Amino acid sequence: MKKPIRVAITGAAGNIGYSLAFPIAAGDMLGKDQPVILQLVELPMAIQGLHGVAMELDDCAYPLLHGIEVADNAAQGFKDADVVMLVGAKPRGPGQTRADLIRENGPIFTGQGDAIDQNAAEDVKVIVVGNPCNTNALIAASRAKRTNKANFTAMTRLDQNRATGQLAKKLGIAPAAVKDVFIWGNHSDTMVPDFSLGYVHINGEKKPVSAAVPAEWLAGDFDKTVRTRGKAIIDARGKSSAASAAQAAIDHIHDWFLGSGDNSVVSMAVPSDGSYGIPEGLVYSFPVRVTGGWKYEIVTGLPIDAAMQVRIDGSTKELLAEREAVKDLL
Ligand code: NAD
Ligand code: LMR
Repeated sequence: MKKPIRVAITGAAGNIGYSLAFPIAAGDMLGKDQPVILQLVELPMAIQGLHGVAMELDDCAYPLLHGIEVADNAAQGFKDADVVMLVGAKPRGPGQTRADLIRENGPIFTGQGDAIDQNAAEDVKVIVVGNPCNTNALIAASRAKRTNKANFTAMTRLDQNRATGQLAKKLGIAPAAVKDVFIWGNHSDTMVPDFSLGYVHINGEKKPVSAAVPAEWLAGDFDKTVRTRGKAIIDARGKSSAASAAQAAIDHIHDWFLGSGDNSVVSMAVPSDGSYGIPEGLVYSFPVRVTGGWKYEIVTGLPIDAAMQVRIDGSTKELLAEREAVKDLL
């Protein structure tokens, strides 16, 4: 029997949290033979609802769920955690951008960054989902003294999954037949969906994305749909994405721990090591390869044409402005 992995989730009684805890307990994230202990964290005012979530988890009798701990503070909730999923934060409302949340949500991540550094397992892996997620991850990583800053990541996998879904739908193929489409930059409208490495399997043939769908669609509807999908979901549902966000968080951690399976490229926002001229430390979405064992490697050396460079620079500029707006928190 493997040793249980401790997974802490903040905002566990929220919209995303309710879609996240159950599939993790079922083994979708860390493997069907990997026991887990869930450490569910909420604000004191939401703790009653969280007890309800814990009761439902009990009632599922998941074979892999070796424990449920409920906490109303990060220090207790992150104790010895191997994985910390920072979901708890305010979602945007109508007319807001994700960056509009920075002064309200940013301070959450100083305290939680400290709590991770002081209480979690030394090699803890962190995913930030709460928006604006890249800069919130930057804030949390800035508190890391004992823990590894490179392990503080943010989620752009939802954007990649959206791109994959749009291509699959356009071509009438299964999403699994679309590979290596990825996202550069910020989880915001300046993100850059990139299909230059992407390919599809269609009618028994492997084709580059650019040969399978019209260039005007890729540059037009496809690009805009992916970049603005979060708002479209809010407009349609009246609240922000939840099940798809939870699935993307599971995919992010799954692939980081177990690999993407076929050496395919995935999107992770990670502290820049200076690749592609992105300022060091900025939490930026790159194409990465994940072969399992909690390693990720930025795919380097991709040719970037002038038009793409302008867009990559635009997302960098926006992230630098977000960093400036929270410099007192770093
Ligand atoms: P929600 O309001 O339904 O739930 C958030 C939960 O977090 C609430 O239960 C709240 O009590 C809790 N919370 C708030 N501050 C907390 C803290 N300091 N510690 C612990 N818990 C805390 O919101 P949601 O729909 O679940 O969205 C959560 C966040 O995720 C939002 O910021 C949203 O914008 C973001 N999001 C990001 C992505 C992405 O792709 N990166 C996708 C979807 C949503
Ligand atoms: C999303 O992309 O669905 C989330 O970031 C929520 C939002 O505010 O768009």
